[in-house]
Amino acid sequence: MRIVITGAAGALGRELVAALAGEDVQALSHTALEVTDRRAVLDCLDSLRPDVVVHQAAWTDVDGCEREPDRAFRVNALGSLNVADASSHQGAHLLYLSSDLVFDGHKDGAYHEWDRTGPLQVYGRSKLAGEHACPPGSTIVRTSWLCGRRGRNMVRSVLALASEHETFGFVADQLGCPTMVGDLAGMIRHLIGERLPGIFHVTNQGEASRYELARAVMELAGHDPDRVHPIELAAYESAVASRPVNARLDNMALRLSGIGLLPPWRESLAHLVGELLGMREG
Ligand SMILES: NC(=O)c1ccc[n+]([C@@H]2O[C@H](COP(=O)([O-])OP(=O)(O)OC[C@H]3O[C@@H](n4cnc5c(N)ncnc54)[C@H](OP(=O)(O)O)[C@@H]3O)[C@@H](O)[C@H]2O)c1
Repeated sequence: MRIVITGAAGALGRELVAALAGEDVQALSHTALEVTDRRAVLDCLDSLRPDVVVHQAAWTDVDGCEREPDRAFRVNALGSLNVADASSHQGAHLLYLSSDLVFDGHKDGAYHEWDRTGPLQVYGRSKLAGEHACPPGSTIVRTSWLCGRRGRNMVRSVLALASEHETFGFVADQLGCPTMVGDLAGMIRHLIGERLPGIFHVTNQGEASRYELARAVMELAGHDPDRVHPIELAAYESAVASRPVNARLDNMALRLSGIGLLPPWRESLAHLVGELLGMREG
């Protein structure tokens, strides 16, 4: 099975390449493949002839997308359409990475795969357009609050803030499902093996506010968690794009399909913080 990964030099991409060690993987960085270049995408997949395409290249700067909607839709919507079309030409199965931000956050409780979408910001709308570009039979994975060894993420931010500031704040009135990139990569490996069609919410189990997550990171790193203070999402709304107060994803489709769920986030967070501290010391 030949697997092509777009955006492979990103935070998830690099973890995915590691999780697929031993497989025939063509890891395409942004430099190797610009997904907005339709001709390049068609030619590239024509020469590589993949069986599976994992399309996770995206412009992930949520506030940047709000400022430059054309760029957001060019990459996340049109780029996804190019990859979807080229995958169909090759008869390749497509797995597309999407986001919790396709929802508006007004629901009481966690969102499942059959809930109505309603993104609040350009990023979410452009990612949803990417979902709509996927041909029938594709696998769509919606995930949230990614934390890993690379790239900008909350866990790395908390560890950096802890070494630079005595106290700092994180939003306490927004709930989501923290997800460790390594766990997600393992599930993607499983899903492309099965080639199951449909939308799957894939997160670590359990919910948290960013404030709770930050406190957990502090505790695991041996710092006083009281150095983190709660702030309101409204105060953070000086950010350009709106964020939903409820970004929780119920992994209903995995559950109903009898596929094992990812571990609770606190369990996997402990491994990640240990790894990050080890990397610092090493
Ligand atoms: N991070 C999260 O919390 C989160 C949550 C839900 C869903 N997701 C989704 O998960 C996927 C991976 O996210 P991530 O956190 O790993 O993001 P990331 O680190 O920003 O990686 C995205 C990759 O896509 C590349 N890319 C951007 N524009 C491109 C283009 N026009 N053509 C080709 N490649 C392009 C980027 O390259 P450059 O850096 O060189 O531009 C980067 O390597 C994305 O689809 C994202 O929407 C992420």
